[in-house]
Amino acid sequence: MSEIKTAGQQFGRRSWAEPWKIKMVEPIRMTTAEERQRAIQEAGYNTFLLKSEDVYIDLLTDSGTSAMSDRQWAGMMLGDEAYAGSRNFYRLEAAVQQYYGYRYVVPTHQGRGAENLISQACIKRGNYVPGNMYFTTTRLHQELAGGIFEDVIIDEAHDSQSLHPFKGNIDLGKLQALVDRVGAANIAYVSLAGTVNMAGGQPVSMENVRALRAFCDRHGIRMYLDATRMVENAFFIQEREPGYADKSIAAILKEFCGYTDGAWMSAKKDNLVNIGGWLAVNHEDVFEATRNLVVIYEGLHTYGGMAGRDMEALAIGIEESVQDDHVRSRIGQVRYLGQLLEQWDIPIVKPVGGHAIFLDARRFYPHLEQSDFPGQTLAAELYLDSGVRAMERGVVSAGRDPATGDHRYPKLELTRLTIPRRVYTQAHMDVVAESVKAAYDQREKTRGLEMVYEPQYLRFFQARFTPKG
Ligand code: F0G
Repeated sequence: MSEIKTAGQQFGRRSWAEPWKIKMVEPIRMTTAEERQRAIQEAGYNTFLLKSEDVYIDLLTDSGTSAMSDRQWAGMMLGDEAYAGSRNFYRLEAAVQQYYGYRYVVPTHQGRGAENLISQACIKRGNYVPGNMYFTTTRLHQELAGGIFEDVIIDEAHDSQSLHPFKGNIDLGKLQALVDRVGAANIAYVSLAGTVNMAGGQPVSMENVRALRAFCDRHGIRMYLDATRMVENAFFIQEREPGYADKSIAAILKEFCGYTDGAWMSAKKDNLVNIGGWLAVNHEDVFEATRNLVVIYEGLHTYGGMAGRDMEALAIGIEESVQDDHVRSRIGQVRYLGQLLEQWDIPIVKPVGGHAIFLDARRFYPHLEQSDFPGQTLAAELYLDSGVRAMERGVVSAGRDPATGDHRYPKLELTRLTIPRRVYTQAHMDVVAESVKAAYDQREKTRGLEMVYEPQYLRFFQARFTPKG
């Protein structure tokens, strides 16, 4: 009998295991090939339009899909559902102040609620907003507020094969060139994300944020952080940046945030809740403006669209999210899936980032044009093979240029396998890897898609496609 290797032995390391055990389970359903064919056709070949009942392993997103702990569920019973001044809001405010270090906190229903507030408060029509690669909802809120987004990420971020350890860094030369061209007074703020979702979950170094702080101080520009996956960013600093190996994730997180003027947060990711968000800032003028705007769009400034129980679960989630063992096992699981794919030479974005494996759809399907939507095609193929749900992060997600109306063709044409936190096992990852391999073995037979319906905003959520003949 041949020897069976553990995953750790297979990849030359001691095995790791999650720092939790499972207390409650949710059944999931395997479908037949015929059922999947019908479902994806009805969904217009867009995985966002599938019914979750028809999905086997759901890697659409890590947003709001985490499993809460027993402590968080216990916290749900402590909701103070007062309209104003809920006890849970003060717990949330204290947790953000303690772990992220900002002075003022405005609660929102999720990340894009906070993006709307900061964009409206800080962007004047015609202002530039430089950032380390766009994120879909972030850029749209900046544009709707009259801003012009300018990508100032380092070139390596656009290269799926570059092994740069901090592919999320901002190129200070590009930022300086923008300041020289438009003037510091026309820059609303620097929009910094840690990690960078669209680049493959790539981190920003402490050295880069420190240099950015000095740059912003010299030019009188403020800097706001998309802290959605900043805890995961802190893990990469601990692992890769000299001087940080012995610092805790919590300490690294707080130091990093300390270089910025504030942050917006989709608490549905790092913070381990199914719904929620916040905005936190250090300057009183921005706090005043956003605390006033929140009552128009979200709810009173002591609940911002969340129930009291949601704020309690979030306060507990923040504390759990910065535990070193938790972050190590979370990113360890993402890497395990990456190692399985790499051993079969399946093209993925490297180095593997924090929250997902990004399949490089251009290299997966070199015979397809980008206008055939290779990333979208691959997501549909994976679903057809096994019921695994992924999502496109390429030309469909990039949308159209508001000035010209043309498709934006990003260099990265990707399909994202996003891992929810504390939800799936190593066996689920094995099933996912084998399904990607099956799609890869079929790649030469695969044709692209044609878009037959396109909504005006954030088209990737609702666009419909049909297979090319
Ligand atoms: N910023 C980043 C980096 C994000 O990834 C997201 C959401 C948001 C802001 C907006 O937050 O969804 O709570 O309103 N990303 C999800 C994803 C949707 O699947 O990557 P939200």
